[in-house]
Amino acid sequence: VHVTGSTKADNYNRIPSPGEIALTPGAAYVHCTTNNTIEGTEWSSLPAAGDAPLVADASSDIFSRPIDVRRFGLIYAGAQKNLGPSGVTLVIVHNDLLARSSKSLPTMLNYKVMAENNSLYNTPNTFGIYILGLTMKWVKSIGGLAAVAETNDRKAGKLYAELDRTGFYRGTAEKASRSRMNVTFRLASEDLEKKFEKEATAAGLDGLKGHRSVGGMRASIYNAFPEAGVDALVQFMREFERTNG
Ligand SMILES: Cc1ncc(COP(=O)(O)O)c(C=O)c1O
Repeated sequence: VHVTGSTKADNYNRIPSPGEIALTPGAAYVHCTTNNTIEGTEWSSLPAAGDAPLVADASSDIFSRPIDVRRFGLIYAGAQKNLGPSGVTLVIVHNDLLARSSKSLPTMLNYKVMAENNSLYNTPNTFGIYILGLTMKWVKSIGGLAAVAETNDRKAGKLYAELDRTGFYRGTAEKASRSRMNVTFRLASEDLEKKFEKEATAAGLDGLKGHRSVGGMRASIYNAFPEAGVDALVQFMREFERTNG
């Protein structure tokens, strides 16, 4: 593996700038993760991949906005955020890459076998796929991915505006790299963060604790999370600031 770009030195609080990415000539593929669930960063436009196919883990922002699938050699996404229940992975793969699929791969890891058998080589997760189908119908019924993107922009925008309002809360991702799915932030001390989490949970706003590897707070606002929930969180944050600021 050749790491083409990393912001490790900045605790991954931003997406590498184009000038920081050094592609390897002749690389088999270039991989990126379109949204970093843990740190709360997201590629707002795709990285250049040169002549190599771009392969993306889109697990945490797939179906959050329209994407140009022609730009990718392969997209894979665990269903558990925006698509449906865990246990299903959506894969979109270019025919050219399928044709190059190695014969020495174990059958169950070979997308060519899966594609040739219409994703029915083995007994698939029928319930998960059924729910994924319902989710797709729901997305269509509310106006498709353009409408979903608009709602997501608005939801994330409300939370980031709250983070930027006074400085009581501090967004951890650089502004240009902010995720629309996972809004990460800190308070002045870990004690205050614990209090925030406890009182938020008591107010019905569950799951705000950041990922165990980074701490802090994280509001995950995937497609299924209602805008009214974001409004409730903003109200709670204002009240918490008023009584603890
Ligand atoms: C971007 C991304 N990739 C991969 C994973 C891990 O997925 P799984 O637990 O299905 O391996 C996650 C979290 O669920 C994620 O957010």
